[in-house]
Amino acid sequence: MSDRRSERRRWLAAHLRREKARLALGATAMSMRAAVLLLLPWPLKFIVDNVIFRKPLGSWAAAVLPDPAMHRLLLLHALGAAMLGLGLLDAGLAYLGNRWLLDAAQRIGYSIRREFFAHLQRLSLGFHRNHLSGELASRLGGDVNALQDFVAAVGVDLLPHLLTISGILAVMLAMNWHYGLMTLAVAPVLVWIARHFAAEIKAAARRTRKAEGEQSGATQEVLSNVQLVQAFAREDHEDRRFEERASTVLAAALRSNHLQAAFAPAMNLAIAVATGVIAWYGATLVIRGALTPGDLLVFLAYLRAIATPARQIAKAGRVFGRAAVALERIEEYRAVVPSIADAPDALVPAHCAGRVELDGVSFGYAADAPVVRDVSFELQRGRTVALVGATGSGKSTIAGLVARFNDPDFGQVRLDGRDLRQLSLRYLRSRIALVPQDPLLFHAPVWANIAYGRDGATRRDAIEAAIAAGVDDVISSLPGGYDLVVGERGSTLSGGQRQCIAVARAMLSEAAVVILDEPSSSVDGVTEQRLMRALRRLAQDRAALLIAHRLATVVDADLILVLDRGRIVQRGTHERLLADGGLYAESWRANGLPGAPAPLRLVAAS
Ligand SMILES: Nc1ncnc2c1ncn2[C@@H]1O[C@H](COP(=O)(O)OP(=O)(O)O)[C@@H](O)[C@H]1O
Ligand SMILES: [Mg+2]
Repeated sequence: MSDRRSERRRWLAAHLRREKARLALGATAMSMRAAVLLLLPWPLKFIVDNVIFRKPLGSWAAAVLPDPAMHRLLLLHALGAAMLGLGLLDAGLAYLGNRWLLDAAQRIGYSIRREFFAHLQRLSLGFHRNHLSGELASRLGGDVNALQDFVAAVGVDLLPHLLTISGILAVMLAMNWHYGLMTLAVAPVLVWIARHFAAEIKAAARRTRKAEGEQSGATQEVLSNVQLVQAFAREDHEDRRFEERASTVLAAALRSNHLQAAFAPAMNLAIAVATGVIAWYGATLVIRGALTPGDLLVFLAYLRAIATPARQIAKAGRVFGRAAVALERIEEYRAVVPSIADAPDALVPAHCAGRVELDGVSFGYAADAPVVRDVSFELQRGRTVALVGATGSGKSTIAGLVARFNDPDFGQVRLDGRDLRQLSLRYLRSRIALVPQDPLLFHAPVWANIAYGRDGATRRDAIEAAIAAGVDDVISSLPGGYDLVVGERGSTLSGGQRQCIAVARAMLSEAAVVILDEPSSSVDGVTEQRLMRALRRLAQDRAALLIAHRLATVVDADLILVLDRGRIVQRGTHERLLADGGLYAESWRANGLPGAPAPLRLVAAS
């Protein structure tokens, strides 16, 4: 626990160090400003004591001004000029200090956000499946903002005000020590109040941010699945769910506000009582002649000067609470180590032959629930291996193991004889093109979605890839063709159109291995023919793993693997498997799916 806390502090400190020049300049300006605030009441003291009450100047001043009576007017002018100068200095320093510190805070927020985004992006799919993207976005947004506010608040509010207060107390002690001590007695009361509230404010901030994050996650999920909501007319239901979550946020935020509302008056009350007592006692000192009226003026001005920073510090309590919670929340995900990551000595081979071997591979998403059991096979350049099996038999999981979205629990997956865990992920993923069952697209033009397959690919490259894949006419027939801007996650295209784009994207990549996950599952016969042609082109000089639901698509494969509940139960060419009988032959005769209880499709062979 304390390890985590010191780790959090170290991490924040590292980010602060990047802005150390600005922070140092800002802190210096703010400290100088504190000194100016300290000097601010002094000209007034001399005006009262030496100009109005005509008290003779001290020996040091007498040396400069030999006849104070004659030069009283001069002294008044000088003091007036000093007040003006201090005022200007205060304004200038406040401007510079604020600017430097706010700039630094903004830049620190920027660098934290960049680092955190880079980290979140690289966490494994397993992590992302278990966390709502809106919740992650909320940590990236709101929580980083809270840290940024904290940096600004420490520099702009806390530092100068603490300095002002300590300076004021020091001067008070020097002027009249027991009077100063009396004033100092307020400090423990203030500290006690602040500590009492700080813990509660932090707890409330934690609840608020948690509720806000959850709400943001759930809201984004509903909005991105809005078609589902509308299709089942569940808008009212979602209204209620939103209301429930929003009221949780409201309750947590209100509690936080109430604490904040009580905190400032509690501080103010303590300060007001102290001011009264101190003013009263100061006046008795002046009457007894132990203090000049000018001294009392300085004391009272200081008391007023203390009240403002004390209130600011109280306000900073909320910012601090929020920042502490934000730091915890960011650290919680920052501490997640990507389960799939490069080894320190990850290899980047110069050449990729495209030979993939699975050797006794077993894998399960949860412990003790294997989804893939003892699977072995080999892919080679120029050859197509087909994987068939019922829905849920583990086909897509095997595809994910080849692209190393998961590591096997037992056995090995190798590329060109090397365990995938030895290879750089960047290398591996650029050599393996996966056309997933449900291809994902960005909200961008079609050509840009194709060009995404290779770093630096141009619009022309994208079109050439589509032509090479034989899907050019499908894309050209879209309104706007290659320049059509696709809806979020490809929502404005049909499944088949999305697959055509994904195939072109795979064609563009430098992959030596292509994996096509059920390319014909959501397309009509004509598009299927076209896709199959595209796949054959794609597979020509690459190793291809073709996952299929419909047996008609795998007839030409060099090797067919029949998967049943994660296990390969049969392997061979189409003819061999038909001759052997068993699951494949039965399913083929039924025109259905291997392992399916009842054949659903009546698509004839060939
Ligand atoms: N991310 C996941 N987390 C947990 N279980 C999963 C996940 N993905 C798939 N599964 C489960 O693993 C099994 C195999 O799924 P999958 O490989 O997608 O089958 P197929 O592609 O053959 O239809 C299914 O029972 C499915 O529910
Ligand atoms: Mg699948």
